[in-house]
Amino acid sequence: MDDDEIIRLVLNRGFLINNDALSLIKDFKDDKKIIQVIEDICSKMDNSDPVIMPDHLKFLYDLHNNGIKKDKENRINVKYSTCYAEESYTGFLNLFIDKFQRLSSIFKKRLAVTPIKNVINNESRPIFVVGIVSNISNTKNGHKIITIEDETGTINTLFSKDSKAKDENILLDEVIGIKGFISKKILIAEEFYRPEIPVERTKVKSHGKVGLTSDIHVGSKMFNSKKWEELIKFIRKDEEVAGDLDCIIVAGDCVDGIGIYPNQERSLSITDISSQYKEVASLFSEIPDDIEIIILPGNHDAVRQAEPQPSFPESIQNLFLDKTEQVKFVGNPCYIDINGTSILSYHGRSLDYLIQEFSGSDYKNPIPSMVQMLKMRHLSPTYGTVPMTPAGKDFLVIDNVPDILHCGHVHTFGIGEYRSTLLFNTGGWQEQTSFQQERNIVPDVGKFPIIDLETMDIKLLDFGG
Ligand SMILES: [Fe+2]
Repeated sequence: MDDDEIIRLVLNRGFLINNDALSLIKDFKDDKKIIQVIEDICSKMDNSDPVIMPDHLKFLYDLHNNGIKKDKENRINVKYSTCYAEESYTGFLNLFIDKFQRLSSIFKKRLAVTPIKNVINNESRPIFVVGIVSNISNTKNGHKIITIEDETGTINTLFSKDSKAKDENILLDEVIGIKGFISKKILIAEEFYRPEIPVERTKVKSHGKVGLTSDIHVGSKMFNSKKWEELIKFIRKDEEVAGDLDCIIVAGDCVDGIGIYPNQERSLSITDISSQYKEVASLFSEIPDDIEIIILPGNHDAVRQAEPQPSFPESIQNLFLDKTEQVKFVGNPCYIDINGTSILSYHGRSLDYLIQEFSGSDYKNPIPSMVQMLKMRHLSPTYGTVPMTPAGKDFLVIDNVPDILHCGHVHTFGIGEYRSTLLFNTGGWQEQTSFQQERNIVPDVGKFPIIDLETMDIKLLDFGG
C-alpha cells in the first residue's frame, strides 16, 4: 500500500499521520494488516489528539517483530497529553475558550445557566451564571469583587463580607458558578460553586497492581541510591506484596537535570544529561521484565518546561533500548487506564502555587491542594503560575474523573481520598537539598505505595528509616 492510500485511510477516520509513523505502518507490508493497524490505532486515539505518532503504534504493536503484542492479561492503555501545539496567540485564546467550554458544560448539565449578557436586566431570582474569573479585588468595606466572563460578556459579582462564599479562596482563571441576584447592575453572589467531581461513582471491575513513584533525581549528589536499590531488591524478591506488580508509574523528575537552577552543577554527581539518563536506564534494567514502567517528564527532565510536556525525545528514549517493550514514555499530564482503573498522573508543578493559595495545604501536606484540583477540575488553573504551551486544547482540564490522582514535585509523601478518588503524592528519592533546607522543607524519601486495583487496598513500602 502506498503513502497516499494510508494517508487517505487515516484521514477518513478523522486523523492525520506523522511521517515516521507512516513508515512504521508501511513496515507491516500486508495490506489487510495495514488496514487492521489503522483501525486499531484510530479506535484508541483521543479525538483531541489528531496526529498519529510513532509512540501510538509502539503501545499497541511489537514493532521489532512486525506483529501485535502478545495478548497480555493486563490491558494498560495510555492517553497522551499532546503531540503538537499551535504556537500562536490564537493558541492561547483557544486554550481559554476550550477550558471554559469544557468546564462550563459540567455546570450546564446540572443547572439552568444564564448567559452573562442577559444577566444585567434579569430580575429573576435566583440567577445562575458560569464564568472564568478575570479579576479579583477587595473593596474598602471588606467585600470581594470577582469579575467573571463567558462567551457573551463580563460581569462584576459582589461577595459580601458577611457571606460564606467570601472566605472561599477563588483563583484567577478558575471556571466557577455563582448563584445570586442583580442589584444596581452588580450580581450579588449568594452561593459559589466549583465544577466538582461526583459524590459517588460506581467502581469499575479491575485487577492488577500498580506502584507509584516520582522525583528520583538521578544525577544529584542527594539521590539516595541505597534506598532505591532496597526498593528494587524488595520488588525482585517479595512474592506476597510485589510478586504480581504489573506496572510502575514515575510521575516526573527521573533525573536532576542540568541548568535547572543557578549553580546546580555543585550539587550534581553526574554532570552530563545523557549520562544521567543512562544511569536511570541502568537502574531500571534491574526491574523485572514483566513490570511495565510508565514515565512522565517533570520540570527537571530534558523536555520542554511548558505544560503539557511531551514525552522524552527519541535521543533519550533510545538510551532505554534494551527495555523498549517494558518502558513507556508519555507526556505530562497523562491518563493511564489499567484494566479499567483510570489513573491521572501529573508531575505537579502547579502545587507550588496552589499550596500557597489554599489553607490547610503546605509542603508537608500537599493533599488538600490536590483535592482542590479535583474540585476545580483543573490541574493548574491560573495562567502564568506554570509555563503553558498554547496547545489550543487545555490538556490540564480534568475531563474524566480519575480513580487515582497521582502527583509528585513537592517531594513530600501524602495519601488521601476525596469522593472515591484516591490521591497520592509520592515524595521522592532525593535527600534534603540546600534549596529545601533554606525553605525548611523536609523531603519524604523512599516511600513506595502499591495499589491493588481490584480492592483499592494500599500497601506502603517504606525504605525511609
Ligand atoms: Fe522533583
